[in-house]
Amino acid sequence: MLRLENKNVLITGASRGIGKAIAELFSEEGANVIVTDIDDESGNNVAAGIGESSCYLHLDVGKEDDWIAASEFVKNKYGGLDIMVNNAGIAGILETQGPHDPENLNIKSWHKVHETNLDGVALGCKYGIRLMKNSTSGSIVNISSRSGIIGIPFAAAYASSKAAVRNHTKSVALYCAEKKYRIRCNSIHPGAIYTPLWDVMLGDGEQRDSMVKAISSEIPLGVMGEPKDVAYAALYLASDESKYVTGIELNVDGGILAGSTASPPGK
Ligand SMILES: NC(=O)c1ccc[n+]([C@@H]2O[C@H](COP(=O)([O-])OP(=O)(O)OC[C@H]3O[C@@H](n4cnc5c(N)ncnc54)[C@H](O)[C@@H]3O)[C@@H](O)[C@H]2O)c1
Repeated sequence: MLRLENKNVLITGASRGIGKAIAELFSEEGANVIVTDIDDESGNNVAAGIGESSCYLHLDVGKEDDWIAASEFVKNKYGGLDIMVNNAGIAGILETQGPHDPENLNIKSWHKVHETNLDGVALGCKYGIRLMKNSTSGSIVNISSRSGIIGIPFAAAYASSKAAVRNHTKSVALYCAEKKYRIRCNSIHPGAIYTPLWDVMLGDGEQRDSMVKAISSEIPLGVMGEPKDVAYAALYLASDESKYVTGIELNVDGGILAGSTASPPGK
């Protein structure tokens, strides 16, 4: 028995990185996967690579009109949804103008990061709930970040938007429970996962190698994570195996959020 047999799933930002890994894993587990993104060429390739059980749809998560069109498409093609993965997100460093620290932040950039990371998730939850009301096992998985739990001095908008996603997830979980919808909602908090999101921060060649080494040395498990590490966590939260789990935050971070001891190394 596959873990997501015949479930209808929509994943945002699934053209690459973590979203792509989730799309591929969910499909291996029997789901019908709607790959969505703003990068249409890569998104079409991901859906084609998966095969007949997948299709691609252009969806800019910050635009409500796109969500309305996507909802119509899902209703017509599948009748409804069982699982929504709100994965699309930007760090803001590449996509917007800096600086991104609290003292000097650019307010337009601040809004753009929130539009994608927070408005995108809020709209995904809004239309996800509407599309899942008839499902007997609905699940919304919101991809937040470890940065939604701790501060990031030079990416303040990113940290703020991800903290809001963490909290909104709990409002959605409680709302759906109160309404007796059979929809759960949980957040995942990845640490440092090796994806194209890091490209602009890591650089190329030797510089890249030494940056990855430096980052890895700060992670208790000693390595950056892989997209699949997050995909397996999403699979658990999407499947009925987690049917009694709602409103939680699941850290996938190699131990980063377990805390710094600020103590001398042990023997
Ligand atoms: N990689 C990490 O270390 C890490 C850590 C914590 C959280 N996250 C979160 O995980 C999620 C995926 O990250 P990733 O590392 O795979 O990033 P990525 O940059 O590799 O992929 C993000 C995808 O989102 C798409 N996207 C960007 N803006 C969009 C929009 N407005 N509408 C729809 N799609 C849009 C991009 O085209 C891209 O395909 C993000 O929410 C990110 O914040 C990543």
